[in-house]
Amino acid sequence: MASTYYITTAIDYTNGPPHIGHAYEKILADVLARYHRLKGEAVYFLTGVDQHGQKVQQAAEKAGVGPAEYANEVTKKFTALWAKLGISYDGWAATTDPRHRQCVQRILQRLHDEGQLHKASYGGHYSVRQEQFLTDKERGPDGEFGPEWGEVVYIEEENWYFKLARHREWLEGFVESHPGFVAPGFRHTELLNAVRKMAGDLSISRPKERLAWGIELPFDPGYVTYVWFDALINYISFAGYLADAGSGLPEFDDLWPADVHVIGKDILVPAHGIYWPIMLRALGFADDKIANLLVHGYVNIAGAKMSKSLGNSVDPDELADKYMPEALRFYLMRDCTMGQDMDFAEDRLVGRFNTDLANGLGNLLNRTLSMAGRYRAGVVTCAPHDDADIRELEAAAAATVETFAARMDEYQVHLALEAVWLFVSRGNQLVDSAAPWKLAKDPAQAARLDAVLYALAEALRIIAILSAPVLPNASAAILAQLNVPGTALLADAKWGGLKDKHQLSPPVPVFPRIEAAPEK
Ligand code: MSP
Repeated sequence: MASTYYITTAIDYTNGPPHIGHAYEKILADVLARYHRLKGEAVYFLTGVDQHGQKVQQAAEKAGVGPAEYANEVTKKFTALWAKLGISYDGWAATTDPRHRQCVQRILQRLHDEGQLHKASYGGHYSVRQEQFLTDKERGPDGEFGPEWGEVVYIEEENWYFKLARHREWLEGFVESHPGFVAPGFRHTELLNAVRKMAGDLSISRPKERLAWGIELPFDPGYVTYVWFDALINYISFAGYLADAGSGLPEFDDLWPADVHVIGKDILVPAHGIYWPIMLRALGFADDKIANLLVHGYVNIAGAKMSKSLGNSVDPDELADKYMPEALRFYLMRDCTMGQDMDFAEDRLVGRFNTDLANGLGNLLNRTLSMAGRYRAGVVTCAPHDDADIRELEAAAAATVETFAARMDEYQVHLALEAVWLFVSRGNQLVDSAAPWKLAKDPAQAARLDAVLYALAEALRIIAILSAPVLPNASAAILAQLNVPGTALLADAKWGGLKDKHQLSPPVPVFPRIEAAPEK
C-alpha cells in the first residue's frame, strides 16, 4: 500500500479550451484530494494535459500555428481555469514535458527489446476523430460507421503493434477477481463484458508523414507513439517511474499504485480498462500494483451531448466569473449522482446556491453570529444544560460526520453533501424552534439561550469543516468568523471544540444571494 494517497485525473486534450465536463472531473478529483487531506493523510494529486496527437495537430493546422504553440496556448487556459476553480493539484502532467518523453521512450525501448512489440502491415478503416482503426464491431446496424467516429478513411500502412491479445485471459481473471477495480459496479460489469470480447493487438505507432506531433519511437524514427500509449503513461512517468535522479519528480515507490484514477465513462473501454492494465502487466507490475478506476458520467446540456457542431458548450470560465467559483463547485458536486450523467442547467446552479448556500448555510451563519453579538457580545458559554433539542442536534452532528465520511470514502460526494445539508436544516430548525430572540427577553431563560447559541456555533464549526473539500474558501471564511484559527481536520469535527467563553466575530455575508434570473 502506498503511503501517500495518490489520485489522478484523465489528462485533457489541448485541442480546444476547457469545457464544463473537464471542470466537473477536476472538481470531483479535487474534492476527493481535499477530503483525504482533511483526514490528515499525505496526498498527491496529479492532473494535466494531453498535448500530442492528431486532434491537437488538426486544431493547430486550423488555427494556422504550430502544434507546440497551439498546445501551449490552450494549456494556459486550463491552468488559469484550474487556479480559478481552486483545483489543488500537486503534480502537473503535461505530455510535452521532456521527463515524460524520456519515460515513454524508455518503456517503448524496453518492450521492444523484450519482443513485446512487432511491426506489421495493416489496411483498414480509420477514424480520424477517435484516432483508431475500426473493425466490423464498430459498424452500426446499417453496416456503416456511425457519426461518433467522425471522418472515416481507408488506410493501409506498416505500424508497430503491442501484443495485447496475449494478456486477454489474465485480464479477464484480474477483472473478475477484483470487484473494486472499477467503481461504480455497473461499469465493472461493462468492462468485464468488453474484456471477454477483446481481440487483436494494439497499434502503438503512427507514421510521421501522417502524424508528426508525438513522441518518436526510439528504435524507429519514422514513427511517433500513438497518443493513448503516450498519455496513459503519465500516471507513472509523473510519479517518478524510470526517472533520472534529480528530476524533481516524486519517489515512485511512495506513490504507486495510485489509489484512484478518476476518468469519464467514455475512456474506460478500451483505454483505461484494457490497454492500461495490460501495459502495466507487460512492464512487470504485479496485480496489486494496478490502480483502481473511478468512472464518472457525462455533463450534458439539455439532455444532449456537448459538441462543437451543436454549439451547446458551456464555458466554466464564464460561469466562474458570473457566479462564485464555489457556486459552480457546489452545484456540480451536489447535483450530479456519482456515476450517472447530469444535465447542466444554469437555473439549477442559481437555485442550489440560493437555497442551500445563501438561505441554508449563509442564513444559519448570519443569524447565529448576529444573535451571539447582540445578546452576548459574541461570547459563547459552554454551560451544562438538559435541553432535548440541543442534545438531538449534538447527536445529529456525530451521525452527520459519520455519514459524510462513509459516503466520501465511497466517492458518493452528492450523498455526503446531502447529509451535511440535512444537518444545516436542523441547525436552522433549532433557531426557529428555540427562538433566541424570545429567550433573550426572559432572564430566567439565560442558561438556555447560552446553550442554544453555543450549540449553533458548534454546529457551524462542524459544518464548515465538512464543507471544506467542496467549498474551501467559504469554509475558511466561516471558520475565520467563528474565530477558529489554523487548518481544520476531520478529527476536529467533534462536538465540544469551542471552549467556554469563546469569542465569535461579527457576521460577514459569505454567500450573497444571486438575485437576477440567468439571461438566456
Ligand atoms: N486525453 C484523453 C484522456 C487521456 S487520460 C490518460 C481524453 N481527453 S478529453 O479532453 O477528451 O477528456 C478528458 C476527461 O474529461 C475524460 O475523463 C473525459 O471522460 C472527461 N469528459 C469529457 N467530456 C465530458 C463531459 N461532457 N462530461 C464529463 N466528463 C467528460 O479523453
